[in-house]
Amino acid sequence: MKLRPDPGLTFDDVLLVPHRSPIRSRSAVDTATTLLPGVQLKIPILSANMDTVTEAPMAVAIARAGGVGVIHRFMTAERQAEAVRRVKRAESFVVEHPTTISPQASLEEARGKMLEADIGGLVVTDQDGRLLGLLTTRDILLAADPSAPVESVMTPRPRLVVAPANERLDSARLALHEHRIEKLPLVDEDDRVVGLITATDIIKLQEHPNATKDSKGRLRVGAAIGVRTPDLPRAEMCLREGADFLVVDIAHGHADHVSVMVSQLKREFPHTPVIAGNVATPDGVRYLAQAGADAVKVGVGSGSICTTRIITGFGVPQLTAILECAEAGRQLGMPVIADGGIRNSGDLTKALAAGASAAMLGALLAGTDESPGPSVVRNGRQFKVVRGMASLSANIARKEIEKLGEIDPDEWESVIPEGVEALVPYRGRVADILYQLVGGLRSGMSYAGAETLPQLWENAEFIRITPAGQLESAPHDVQVL
Ligand code: XMP
Repeated sequence: MKLRPDPGLTFDDVLLVPHRSPIRSRSAVDTATTLLPGVQLKIPILSANMDTVTEAPMAVAIARAGGVGVIHRFMTAERQAEAVRRVKRAESFVVEHPTTISPQASLEEARGKMLEADIGGLVVTDQDGRLLGLLTTRDILLAADPSAPVESVMTPRPRLVVAPANERLDSARLALHEHRIEKLPLVDEDDRVVGLITATDIIKLQEHPNATKDSKGRLRVGAAIGVRTPDLPRAEMCLREGADFLVVDIAHGHADHVSVMVSQLKREFPHTPVIAGNVATPDGVRYLAQAGADAVKVGVGSGSICTTRIITGFGVPQLTAILECAEAGRQLGMPVIADGGIRNSGDLTKALAAGASAAMLGALLAGTDESPGPSVVRNGRQFKVVRGMASLSANIARKEIEKLGEIDPDEWESVIPEGVEALVPYRGRVADILYQLVGGLRSGMSYAGAETLPQLWENAEFIRITPAGQLESAPHDVQVL
């Protein structure tokens, strides 16, 4: 048995000491970070892979704001891959597989296809995929005969402006503008359609200048997997739909089966970055780095909905865990991600100042429009539900998904939950929450005299505070309105 001499610290046990600052405005602060090799974020925030936090709408919104989402794994592999696909298709300056239709199809069929795919145009091709024309909503809107063939109203090939497969964003924008058109088909040497650029997608790019994008202009997204045999095909399905990285996520990440899974993933998908976790010690970080992880998630029992520390007695207070793990990560050149327990921008700043490259947020984002599930009203106030992924209801839901049906009531009693289900206040759009959080972080960085995250790591000086200091740190001796 060992007893460590120093108490572990968490966010409320410390403050950051202000330093001389050359920064005149918060806008001079750069919050960019490297999450993984080849994956940069403008804001160092990930949305948690929890079923009350991240499905496609959250992942789209957070990637547009400059962070990234991790699609949870508590659904069938098919549904998870479909969520990845939706994120990758949400925005791109090239639609890689545009929806096509044959020239002989009816206008009614064309309208159905457009509605189903929620798009305003179809590319008309022959059986070999060669371009014959373009059909847009405008072409069919006032057509008298819905059974008329597409070719009777489409813009035919000779009147179309097209571009080569490797068309660049600038020249595409110019072509769309000069010809006052909305769609630019991309064709190969044989006139086969290899993509489509639309004016709407280029406008969307301009709306979100901080968005986290891959080389094709698509939003980035991660996919969470577990450590069991079916998780390999799950990973493969998500990667096929374009997932940018995988997150091997189990409660106790410093474990042999996690190491085996990470090594296997690195063998099977050598070009895919892998985040692994969760751990709470430098040994855990080194263990996962040795298995091949590209980044490690830190936090055991620190989450808002966690009961791991109560049920098992295990955990490390989160600030100490981040400080120690980030130091180990720094020696290995490996980013660590602070996961769990962040309640406000002050906690976020402290987590990053302690050495994390980014932070994962659960409950703080669960109350937004983009989190899964409807809002509920209690005593006249609006809430949304957040639940631990090891809570009773999440465990039952997972078993039902695995069995593809309801489970025996006896099985309910076999569950030993390590998380709870809870209500969080409804908070509106995630973009607004992120704006506040990043504003607070920028302000915090300016108190440290840090223009960048590496400078924050360098300059950060923590001071431990007493319960009296904690009282002084919040509004006191006034009645807050
Ligand atoms: P916050 O505090 O941001 O934490 O809501 C989110 C993180 O909590 C972890 N998590 C759990 N931990 N039991 C646990 O001990 C659970 O049921 C549970 N569900 C989520 C997870 O790391 C998440 O990102």
